[in-house]
Amino acid sequence: MTTKSTDLADALAEHRRLSAQRLEGSGELRVFFAPGRVNLMGAHLDYNGGPVMPTAIDRGTLIFARVRSDREVHLASALEEGEFHGSVDDLPSSASGAWFDYPLGVLRHRSQEGELAHGLDLFFGGNLPIGAGLSSSASICVGTAYALQGLGNGRIDLEACIASALWAEREFVGVHCGIMDPYAVGLARPNHLLWVDCKDGQVDHVPIDSDRLTIAVADSGVRRELAGSAFNDRVDQCARAFALLGDGVSGASCLRDVPREVVDAQRTRLGEDIWKRACHVTDEVERTLMARAALDGGDFAAFGRAMTASHDSLRDQFEVSIPELDFLVETAVAWPGVLGSRLTGAGFGGCIVILMETRACPGFAAHLNASYRSRFGRDSDVQFFQGDRGPRELQDQA
Ligand code: GLA
Repeated sequence: MTTKSTDLADALAEHRRLSAQRLEGSGELRVFFAPGRVNLMGAHLDYNGGPVMPTAIDRGTLIFARVRSDREVHLASALEEGEFHGSVDDLPSSASGAWFDYPLGVLRHRSQEGELAHGLDLFFGGNLPIGAGLSSSASICVGTAYALQGLGNGRIDLEACIASALWAEREFVGVHCGIMDPYAVGLARPNHLLWVDCKDGQVDHVPIDSDRLTIAVADSGVRRELAGSAFNDRVDQCARAFALLGDGVSGASCLRDVPREVVDAQRTRLGEDIWKRACHVTDEVERTLMARAALDGGDFAAFGRAMTASHDSLRDQFEVSIPELDFLVETAVAWPGVLGSRLTGAGFGGCIVILMETRACPGFAAHLNASYRSRFGRDSDVQFFQGDRGPRELQDQA
């Protein structure tokens, strides 16, 4: 991946040194970690009330944190330019386009909830590539909320962390995202996929055979900003589809509830683009339900086929792929022992996720990278992930 240090222990040592240089104050810095995530099934379903199947990855955000004796707030990062200096009594009411909008949004939410009574020094780092579709934004937001609770030494309330993260992204930064990313960062477990039914928020942990199966991620190196971009455009298109279709389906509360026949019957009224978006959603709901059943029944090949079918739909119906991601998926699935692959995150760049037999891993990264390099003239870093157990304080290493 495109971070300077990929190993968390390296990142920790490097960022501890930097934090001492960049934060002027004194006092013990406690260190918190929040993972990133990959989504294996349920693409663009969370904001349509559908089911999703992400998991956390053992790469994420490091937060060096301490309470200040005054009411100043200082936010700095090892990964980004620019710092925030302000007062806890006068936090900005709107985003500025800077990286610190995300933690600032969390601070503002905690402050509105009456739970921010002191100044803070926060220094961010980690080993998660930013803007690569691995949910660096939910990682920093959930991690910030977790660090605030950790500094307060009270009970950790993960639901409150998720709520603050969602508020920061939606209300402060202005990305109309669904609930999947902070749920995955906050609640996923190692050796499991997280099942979230985004209509009612019901959560389940589905075991995967991690001796036999490996989750790999390949980075296209192409970056897109989410806020105000094509992502919000897709959210709006789905909302328009539901506005046009929902009345015709008794009891429907979201696009997930609309059957494919109803979508097709209204094709002319929807117009070609909105019809295609709605087709993706209805088909992806079916695929995700089928993929869950396949996983429960140990049919990993069927789960993998659903992932690749999901990618085809993201390319042709939802139109959020790019040639680099299509090439990576096609090359990955041609490798013996790869069960399935698709873009992960919102699309328009970022990474693909690959489900493969563990025995098929040797040689795979070199092959995928060499193929990508010969086609696009740049590298695709490929990483094999272990699941992660969610946000925590790194007490031993602090
Ligand atoms: C982004 C959003 C998520 C989700 C995915 C697509 O990561 O933040 O809420 O919509 O895209 O599945």
